Amino acid sequence: MIDVPPAIQTVDLTKKFWRRRSLRPPFRRGPEKVALDRINLTIQTGEVFGLLGPNGAGKTTLVKILCTLMLPTHGRAIIDGLDVVKNSRDVRRRVGMVYGDERTFFWRLSVLENLRFYAALYRIPGKVADRRIRDLLEFVGLAGDAQVEMHHFSTGMKQRAAIARGLLHDPEILFMDEPTRGLDPLAALELREFLRNRVADGRRTVLVATHIMAEAEDLCHRVAFINHGRIQLIGSIEQLRSALRAEDAHVLVVSQIDRLTLETLSHLNGVHSVSITPLQPATYRLEVTSERGAAAIPSIIREVVRQGGNVWSSVPQELTLEEMFAIAARERDLAAPGEGITDVLGSAPPLTPVEMKEGVR
Ligand SMILES: Nc1ncnc2c1ncn2[C@@H]1O[C@H](COP(=O)(O)OP(=O)(O)O)[C@@H](O)[C@H]1O
Ligand SMILES: [Mg+2]
Repeated sequence: MIDVPPAIQTVDLTKKFWRRRSLRPPFRRGPEKVALDRINLTIQTGEVFGLLGPNGAGKTTLVKILCTLMLPTHGRAIIDGLDVVKNSRDVRRRVGMVYGDERTFFWRLSVLENLRFYAALYRIPGKVADRRIRDLLEFVGLAGDAQVEMHHFSTGMKQRAAIARGLLHDPEILFMDEPTRGLDPLAALELREFLRNRVADGRRTVLVATHIMAEAEDLCHRVAFINHGRIQLIGSIEQLRSALRAEDAHVLVVSQIDRLTLETLSHLNGVHSVSITPLQPATYRLEVTSERGAAAIPSIIREVVRQGGNVWSSVPQELTLEEMFAIAARERDLAAPGEGITDVLGSAPPLTPVEMKEGVR
């Protein structure tokens, strides 16, 4: 079997910026800012990968380096086995880029004219380009507006035009930087649905940089949390969730039972705490925390029923990505420099949640 290189790989990728102090050497370089700090990432072909982090985390810098728009300071970035610095021309043929901030169209021209212009830059022959542009406009739902000057477009339409442009040369890898920036919630939802169903087709590798957790949750197979230029955690959302969760949490609604009986539930095996809130007479909401995987909830349900009570619902409380991010940031701050980076994929099989947790702490 031929060894297929990962779609994207970085090795200790580092980017520093220097503030300029003076125009003349030797004082030209001011204080340095480390925008990316030894990033090690491996993303396989066909993956939809989310780069998550707050503003200033380094997401755009990383994306720019990966699509050859910026040079790294140290380390390497390899796309499809090709070095982004040494083989930038070949890398460019393989990657497409969609920015959330679309100021790079000619607004007085139609989307059709714009795409023809970019096709010419990509040196796509006229006939082939015309066919591809027609298909792409159909694909992103802009076929009916092909002749409309782009300044009449809504933000959502501009975004779809940007996606069409990103796909113009049929890249194997698509980078999207904050793809739903500026969209209202409904338009963002629609765009995400489009990305999930049409763009991430299982063959194309997609890297989405975003600070919107729901976007990553909706689209991505795996995510990396990045902050202050460092990767704090990598894994599927499910893996991260179970790795970061110290205990299980459930909310139950029970009735026909008295409070004193409920208070004894906290003595059951594996139960850490039970907090009781009355909802109606003899109806309570229970917030239960328990040892991970200890099957404490079945014991609680059995006990409530044995005491003549009813269980109306039991809902597991999952960590939100925001909570996970906060935990990761906290743990990272506690870890020694260089520790706390966990890559679940790479060439090794995925780690179990327990192994991961060990890596995290
Ligand atoms: N061209 C630049 N010159 C100087 N500093 C920069 C430049 N681009 C980005 N930075 C700095 O690098 C850090 C990461 O920025 P960026 O990659 O844009 O973050 P993000 O996209 O996650 O919001 C920020 O502190 C930013 O100020
Ligand atoms: Mg950015």
